[in-house]
Amino acid sequence: MSINEQVAIVTGASRGIGQQIAVQLAQSGVKVVVNYSSNATKADEVVKTIEQSGGEAIAIRADVSKVSEVEALFSETLERFGRVDILINNAGIMEGRAIADVTEEDFDRNFAVNVKGTYFACQQAMQHMAEGGTIINFSTSVAGAMLPTYSIYAATKGAVEQLTRQLAKEFGPRNIVINCIAPGQVATDLFLNGKSEELVDSYRRMNAFGRLGEPEDIANVIELLVSGKARWITGQTIRVNGGFN
Ligand SMILES: NC(=O)c1ccc[n+]([C@@H]2O[C@H](COP(=O)([O-])OP(=O)(O)OC[C@H]3O[C@@H](n4cnc5c(N)ncnc54)[C@H](OP(=O)(O)O)[C@@H]3O)[C@@H](O)[C@H]2O)c1
Repeated sequence: MSINEQVAIVTGASRGIGQQIAVQLAQSGVKVVVNYSSNATKADEVVKTIEQSGGEAIAIRADVSKVSEVEALFSETLERFGRVDILINNAGIMEGRAIADVTEEDFDRNFAVNVKGTYFACQQAMQHMAEGGTIINFSTSVAGAMLPTYSIYAATKGAVEQLTRQLAKEFGPRNIVINCIAPGQVATDLFLNGKSEELVDSYRRMNAFGRLGEPEDIANVIELLVSGKARWITGQTIRVNGGFN
């Protein structure tokens, strides 16, 4: 299947890393579903940007923490484009909090978006993705860093890494590869919101290059993984973090 005939669902593509992935996949000829949960204006802007460069995209609202909405995301994609070849499970939330301050609701919300959302989107992919497809889940390099206040976030992403490993051999017989990207600190709302300039600077100094990652640092690796040149990689977590850890 040439890249021009492929269809991608990118969850959480209205902003940040997902937006850049959507734009770059569309530039390479893939038809893209720009998923979002609340920010319709931003999602529409991403679709417009893609269309203005000659690409094809639609925005579909779906809260990935709700299984019925994940199912609707796939059925609307199939109605519009007739197939799904690429699933980028990028949607995620990060709420840094010391264990003493974490409520049951905080715990459930973070696991619902980051783990349940990823898992049931994979289930939809098992039912509907074309043979030869590609799934990319999202962890974080923080999962290997033991930083205070990241316990829930890192635990959700640890679960995503493990489910990626476990599912590789279920997807293999359908010639679908499934991997996990673990970015380091990337300059998006998720990382920057609520952090002082001093704290952001301290993170800049933690990698080999003294800068934050940019969304394209991540999207470039996604392009490699969907290019057809990396089909022997499956079940793996790939750290894309400028040498943070
Ligand atoms: N930035 C970093 O430093 C970093 C580092 C490691 C890993 N990551 C991971 O990379 C991924 C993308 O992060 P980011 O930095 O680009 O985040 P971001 O800038 O906060 O953007 C998050 C995106 O996810 C969407 N989203 C949030 N909750 C959702 C839900 N329940 N259902 C559907 N979409 C939802 C948002 O949609 P709305 O606009 O509609 O709210 C938005 O498009 C996440 O999985 C994150 O954990 C990020």
